[in-house]
Amino acid sequence: MAATVERMGRSSRAPRRRSIKDVADLAGVSVGTVSNVLNKPALVAEETRIKVEAAIASLGFVRNGSARQLRAGTSQTVGAIVLDISNPFFTDVARGVEDRLAEDDHILILASSDDRLDKQHRYLRLLEEQGVQGVLVSPASNDLTWLDQTRARGTAVVLLDRPSPSPQICSVAVDDVKGGDLAATHLLELGHQRIGFVNGSTKIRQCADRRKGVRKALRAAGLRIADSLVETTVSALNADGGEEGLERLLRVSEPVTAIICANDLTALGVLRGLRRRRISVPEQMAVVGYDDVEFAGVLTTPLTSIRQPRYQIGRAAATLLLNEAGSRTHRHEQVLFQPELIVRESSGPPAR
Ligand code: RIB
Repeated sequence: MAATVERMGRSSRAPRRRSIKDVADLAGVSVGTVSNVLNKPALVAEETRIKVEAAIASLGFVRNGSARQLRAGTSQTVGAIVLDISNPFFTDVARGVEDRLAEDDHILILASSDDRLDKQHRYLRLLEEQGVQGVLVSPASNDLTWLDQTRARGTAVVLLDRPSPSPQICSVAVDDVKGGDLAATHLLELGHQRIGFVNGSTKIRQCADRRKGVRKALRAAGLRIADSLVETTVSALNADGGEEGLERLLRVSEPVTAIICANDLTALGVLRGLRRRRISVPEQMAVVGYDDVEFAGVLTTPLTSIRQPRYQIGRAAATLLLNEAGSRTHRHEQVLFQPELIVRESSGPPAR
């Protein structure tokens, strides 16, 4: 529904930001004295300090933190580039990052690459220009050539939700091969022999590893991939992508009786499509998601999903970044969390 905006009077630009020179002129002191009041007040006579503080209050002066931090090389900002800011998985991760940064009086700048390498590179450059302490990146592709270049320019990088290709780079991830295996094994144990898989591009490591896990489980059950798995790659891992993938799976000549989705947003679209077609879940089609975000358990048909410790992923990544950016004796770490199968009503045995 379009929002209506009522304009009240002429729009006015925010007043010019006051400078440290404005404060010095009003207080009748030098810029250096104002700087001392701000940074080393003990060096300034009380009468002068009071005069300067009065000028600061009167002008509403706010010092330029980024300029100060750039000069001192001690930024208090950290950047995070996630794949999709509208995916609750990443907002839960970001919550963990933000809470951990706040404990060290740091602030988060959050951006979304939308699975696009060009956007990821653009945001990386913008964050470096801001002089951030470091960047957490959930890479938009397997091309990590940017990684060494960014670190060589002095910006710490921790890979977020992706295992590191090298022991010299910190990372926090979940074993997504295991996650895909858990999802497929659960359905096989229910008796499903022909499973659909709505996945994203395998240029995204999470999707590639989940796919590996699904195929590993089918082979371990002695099934031929060609007979037991119908894969479809959708353009976006969201509800529309999920419905797009469902339509393709429903068109195959030999129907599937269960669908694994690369994440819960995709599963939402699959469930929506099945409801539109009056295909009952799980009786006529079992559905398994991935992430176990907040809504998974409260859907009309609660979603079976693969849980990722989202908040802990964020905290762990932020801790590694603060340690790397703040210490010369930092030891790189590659943290790998384990996924967990959460069984709910959306998965059950195939109809006989
Ligand atoms: O971005 C795609 C998926 O990768 C997310 O839903 C989450 O599962 C992440 O690991």
